[in-house]
Amino acid sequence: MSGVDERAPYDPMPHGPPEVGVGPWEGPWPEDERYDVRLLAEGDRRNVVDRYRYWTVEAIVADLDTRRHDFHVAIENWQHDFNIGTIVRTANAFLAAEVHIVGNRRWNRRGAMVTDRYQHVRHHSDVPALAAYLHERDVVLLGIDNLPGSLHLETTTVPRRVCFLFGQEGPGLSESARAACDGTFSIAQFGSTRSINASSAAAIAMHAWVREHADLSDERAWRG
Ligand SMILES: C[S@@+](CC[C@H](N)C(=O)[O-])C[C@H]1O[C@@H](n2cnc3c(N)ncnc32)[C@H](O)[C@@H]1O
Repeated sequence: MSGVDERAPYDPMPHGPPEVGVGPWEGPWPEDERYDVRLLAEGDRRNVVDRYRYWTVEAIVADLDTRRHDFHVAIENWQHDFNIGTIVRTANAFLAAEVHIVGNRRWNRRGAMVTDRYQHVRHHSDVPALAAYLHERDVVLLGIDNLPGSLHLETTTVPRRVCFLFGQEGPGLSESARAACDGTFSIAQFGSTRSINASSAAAIAMHAWVREHADLSDERAWRG
């Protein structure tokens, strides 16, 4: 049980290794410009998969850019929605093409856990501007909200080139967003609550895309 007592009570991974990552590089340093000399010298304790140990942020982003998926995610940010950071983190995990923030530029990065460094995050002043940006690139804009008339995410095939747009806690998708979307999808619910949390809805929608379109034959998808 050594090490367990040393952990802080709020440790989010109480059953994982006491320290993630690797220590300083042992042996002759690799001659590859993807490596970061400071990380080689001091070790790499970042929250990145092992394949990227000791790589610079720029090298990791460049590698991700070679295989990003065709889906985007967007969220309205009129009230500094605290879900945005979590959505960015999930978008990073599922390798979204881009994350779009509509409305206020400022957003709470805490939930992103630094994943925003590896993700293309783009700002738009309003939803029509987002829709114009996407349509120029042949990307369909689908609002995700439990609105009357929404199609069911569970029984409809999501397009490959798509952007999922989420509303905020409380108001949900704005009128302007509903008008600018090419369609809306809802997620089935069975309990008493009116809705689920926006970042939970985002994870479900992104995963619907993954189930439909992602290449699961690449073993890197299963490394956890
Ligand atoms: C907490 S909900 C907001 C309001 C919701 N329309 C209501 O009637 O209470 C915040 C956002 O989460 C997403 N969301 C929550 N539950 C959903 C569901 N069952 N289906 C689709 N999206 C949902 C939507 O993007 C929504 O705008």
